[in-house]
Amino acid sequence: MAWFIIILLWLGNSRAQFVDITSQTEPDLEERLFGLLLRLQTEKIYDTLLIYGRDCAFPSLSSRLQVPTVLVSSGSTNFEWNFSSLTLILSCDIQAEREENYRTLMKLHLARRLILLRGDFQPESVCDFYSKKDQYNIAMVKENFDQFGVVYSCRLFQDQKYEKINFSEDKPIFIEQFRNMHGAPIRSFPDVSPPGCMAYRDPKTGEEKYIGFVADLLNNFVTKVNATLSMQMELAKNEEDLSFVNITNWAAQDLLDIGMSEALSFRMTNFDSMSYPYLMSSFCFMIPLPDKMPNSEIYMAIVTPPVLIVLFIIFCIISVMLIYIQKKSWRALSVTSVLLNDICVRGFLAQPFPVPRHSSKKLKLVLMIICFCSVITTTMYLAYLQTFLWAPPVDPFMTSFADVEKSRYKMAITTYDVDAVNSLNVSKDKVVVLESNKFGHLRGTFNDKYIYPVTAVRWMTFEKQQDNFAYPLFYYSETLCVNYFDILGFPIRRYLPYRHLFEEHMLRQKEFGLTKLWLDRSFGDMLRLNYSTIKDFNPPLLNDYVEVHNLYWVFGLYFAGLALASICFIQELLTPLGRWRFRILKL
Ligand SMILES: *[C@@H]1O[C@H](CO)[C@@H](O)[C@H](O)[C@H]1NC(C)=O
Ligand SMILES: *[C@@H]1O[C@H](CO)[C@@H](O)[C@H](O)[C@H]1NC(C)=O
Ligand SMILES: *[C@@H]1O[C@H](CO)[C@@H](O)[C@H](O)[C@H]1NC(C)=O
Ligand SMILES: *[C@@H]1O[C@H](CO)[C@@H](O)[C@H](O)[C@H]1NC(C)=O
Ligand SMILES: *[C@@H]1O[C@H](CO)[C@@H](O)[C@H](O)[C@H]1NC(C)=O
Ligand SMILES: *[C@@H]1O[C@H](CO)[C@@H](O)[C@H](O)[C@H]1NC(C)=O
Repeated sequence: MAWFIIILLWLGNSRAQFVDITSQTEPDLEERLFGLLLRLQTEKIYDTLLIYGRDCAFPSLSSRLQVPTVLVSSGSTNFEWNFSSLTLILSCDIQAEREENYRTLMKLHLARRLILLRGDFQPESVCDFYSKKDQYNIAMVKENFDQFGVVYSCRLFQDQKYEKINFSEDKPIFIEQFRNMHGAPIRSFPDVSPPGCMAYRDPKTGEEKYIGFVADLLNNFVTKVNATLSMQMELAKNEEDLSFVNITNWAAQDLLDIGMSEALSFRMTNFDSMSYPYLMSSFCFMIPLPDKMPNSEIYMAIVTPPVLIVLFIIFCIISVMLIYIQKKSWRALSVTSVLLNDICVRGFLAQPFPVPRHSSKKLKLVLMIICFCSVITTTMYLAYLQTFLWAPPVDPFMTSFADVEKSRYKMAITTYDVDAVNSLNVSKDKVVVLESNKFGHLRGTFNDKYIYPVTAVRWMTFEKQQDNFAYPLFYYSETLCVNYFDILGFPIRRYLPYRHLFEEHMLRQKEFGLTKLWLDRSFGDMLRLNYSTIKDFNPPLLNDYVEVHNLYWVFGLYFAGLALASICFIQELLTPLGRWRFRILKL
């Protein structure tokens, strides 16, 4: 056994020497390249090596670096590899990389590339070749790298397309070229929709400019990377009704770099042409506040039958007790004497009544109960009435689309939301599809015949606007939503070479609190730029004071009682006096 292991060890050892001998065909080049790779690792760490092509020094070097390595000798993968952004690509030749897999290309788009040039390629043409593919992190070495130690690195924003770097000097090979774009244009297109993006004319230069929490972020980015904003107005083709959907499409077709707009995120299959989410919000309905109970109904609302029945029963019991205590027998009880008991009727209506003289203790007790009852019932009804007149009860809030079906409201939407609303359980005749301008006008004037979809961000401005009204008109429903979780990102070109810079900028601005500041100021900006008004859109208040016709129940009952009393009075006048005297005596 021991012999066997020794033989194995010897075999392994000699094989290693054998490999050393074969790879020593270009030992100096390999040593220098190894030094270069080590230096690249200190410049910016890489966690994966991806080697395209074979027959060059790179594959054998990778084993010495102890970094996971993927060898693609055929030059292309037909699998969706999820390479990390810290991948370093080594190509054995300019033609070696022939990647065609879209997803792999997307992943590798910003990766650094080191190319071993063989034959006589000019660095300039190599840089052109790669910049046509929108790849800018390119460095190359020629086969005589071991003699001269020169690395060529592509540079974008300067006269010469590349830079010659002496390996012994301490100059970075890959730099973040897009940190200073030297006035290069960023193609964009504004979607003027307050409060994200609002247009105004600069009073000094007369140029059209944009502010808002979407526009400001892009404006700041342009300043930060020393670029210029170039608005691609010719794309609009004089069309009026353009929206963020068009801008998202243009970005997906590589006609724009970054749109000054929200990106369409609803039902996207991939997010290649959308930035990292800028804001999270929801897309729900703003709904008119529920109706108040009309004043004319308040009087009937406070008189509820169960309470009346209870009062009636108490009335009867007290009346019976009163008669029994006075007469000390059940024979005096009759329907009329119980129901029309003089003391009880007056007492329950909170009127003064005569207290019989020489009344017993029990009678006094019952009379006291009558006094308490009268105070409690009248106070209760008075409090009830005044509360309801001050703040009439409101109808229940809508909590589901079934409530919308039953309500008097229709759903106003734009053509862009048709698909989304179709997936909700709402019948067709409840939905009104309007063009954007009409929709904007109705929603902007708080027309309370409709309910409107609105993003939480836009609702913030409506809410501030309502603060100026005599009373609020709408509320933002948290339950009736088109989309509970709405992502607001920017439309960007798929192969945008400075996507990471833009996203980092976005997060920094947000982290610093600028986004919140812009959001808080948005209603003020809208007012200043005449996108909103502080006009009160409340309908004239017809319902706020009590009018005579609101009291018809009260007057009706009053006159009915008066009529009844008159009839009794007339009857009394007409009946002979003798019968009355007899009756009075009997009582
Ligand atoms: C890469 O990620 C995608 C989705 O994120 C997944 O569908 C695919 O299987 C992954 N590829 C590999 C090789 O894991
Ligand atoms: C690179 O720099 C070293 C010393 O810094 C110098 O000796 C060498 O000649 C330079 N090589 C080239 C090609 O300029
Ligand atoms: C910004 O770009 C301009 C060219 O448009 C250039 O002159 C200027 O030096 C750049 N600024 C910085 C700080 O590099
Ligand atoms: C904008 O999009 C709408 C539909 O989304 C389309 O009908 C219209 O043609 C587009 N306009 C342009 C200029 O592309
Ligand atoms: C859709 O609405 C109808 C009536 O409006 C209701 O009967 C049905 O249950 C609803 N379906 C769902 C999935 O909510
Ligand atoms: C603001 O807009 C209204 C109509 O929307 C217009 O009548 C008014 O003149 C505008 N005011 C200013 C200062 O532009």
